[in-house]
Amino acid sequence: MIKKMPKESGIDHTLALLKEGYPFLFNRRQEVDSTIFKTRILGQQAIALSGKEAASLFYDNEKFRRSDAAPKRIQKTLFGEGGVQSLDGEAHHHRKAMFMTLMSRDGLNEMYEIIDKELTAANQNWKKENHIVLDKEIQKLLTKAACQWVGVPLPDKEINQRTEQLADMFESAASIGPKHWKGRKSRKNGEEWIISLVRQVRNNEMAVDEDRALYTFSWHRDLDGNLLNEKIVAVELLNLLRPIVAISAYINFLVLALYEHPEERENLKNTDNENRFEWFCQEVRRYYPFFPFAAARVKRDFIWNGFTFKEGTLTLLDLYGTNHDPNEWSEPNQFKPDRFQEWKGSPFDFIPQGGGEFNLGHRCAGEWMTLGVMKRCLSFFVHMDFELPEQDLSYSMTEMPSKPKSKIIMQVH
Ligand code: HEM
Repeated sequence: MIKKMPKESGIDHTLALLKEGYPFLFNRRQEVDSTIFKTRILGQQAIALSGKEAASLFYDNEKFRRSDAAPKRIQKTLFGEGGVQSLDGEAHHHRKAMFMTLMSRDGLNEMYEIIDKELTAANQNWKKENHIVLDKEIQKLLTKAACQWVGVPLPDKEINQRTEQLADMFESAASIGPKHWKGRKSRKNGEEWIISLVRQVRNNEMAVDEDRALYTFSWHRDLDGNLLNEKIVAVELLNLLRPIVAISAYINFLVLALYEHPEERENLKNTDNENRFEWFCQEVRRYYPFFPFAAARVKRDFIWNGFTFKEGTLTLLDLYGTNHDPNEWSEPNQFKPDRFQEWKGSPFDFIPQGGGEFNLGHRCAGEWMTLGVMKRCLSFFVHMDFELPEQDLSYSMTEMPSKPKSKIIMQVH
């Protein structure tokens, strides 16, 4: 039986989205009392999906495509154009494999060793300062780590400039006005930087380890056996560098959570159960806001649970709301790391970095790395002697990505 899809009343809800931020789709879901409903944002009809069952639909590659899903302003800042996010079918699987081969156990362990080394070195400098701004320090640390891991040379004098460029790409994506334009400029300059390195690799003018992404992506061939256009290689290398720096947003929240839950910090200090570190990091990814939703378009007309989906309709999956869904999570608005002891590991109920399959779907290629880097940082901060002086640690539910207002001012002893 064909059912009428519940619909949010009103003409366009872009303003409400900007005003309400992360919980926007979840608030509407409650209002219309349905995990599937129609809305209208950015001047177009959209279908919103929320919750575990709806997420499993969203990740059905036969039903949704990505090629024309991301708005231009997001491509010009966050994603770049022609990258893996915009591919479908075989072309996507082939390009995604290029990313996933980097995420082997050895590849990831190498990153964690770099992180440990950089944290130890940075801590020596932090102790000499009166105070540090953690967000800025961690962004620099992650830029250095990302460049080493990817094989991109980073002279000391360029660290601040490259950190700012990479951070602009994800901090400007949801902004309007000057911040957005700064993000576009940083993307352009960042792509030029990486293109010049790809040229040097291809012309044998630069020595680079053959295991590094800079080398493997530069020589990657598409399904027709052709090398990728140098701009696309740059977009994909930035698809590694940029999100590694973005892990800083979670590190801010990690430290905030340690501060706000001193009993959890004590538990971690005294535990001999390594799993507790993982549960804490997972709860940070579940509880705090980062990506509000993922976007796709209906590939061809279909009917699901009685609802009609029309070809080309923009479809948004509520990531934040699914992570706070009371049908799946008890007391979803409480920070409770121990809940992950019971979590069954479903690919659809806990989706801060997307859901479904890594290789065949669009789930985040860097999710294991994100969790691993967070765990290294958590072990470090749990045992580190620091204080947070009086400051504004509140964070916005409308800024994307969100972070504590003070950016975490820290005194390190
Ligand atoms: C895709 C979030 C870190 C590489 C995604 C998606 C989200 C996401 C929501 C889209 C899922 C979808 O469209 O269904 C995050 C968050 C991170 C993070 C919150 C924490 C900072 C990373 C890291 C890397 C990475 C560290 C690489 C080292 C990618 C790539 C894609 C992606 C390549 C595209 C995958 C595809 O289209 O098949 N991420 N990510 N991300 N992420 Fe991440």
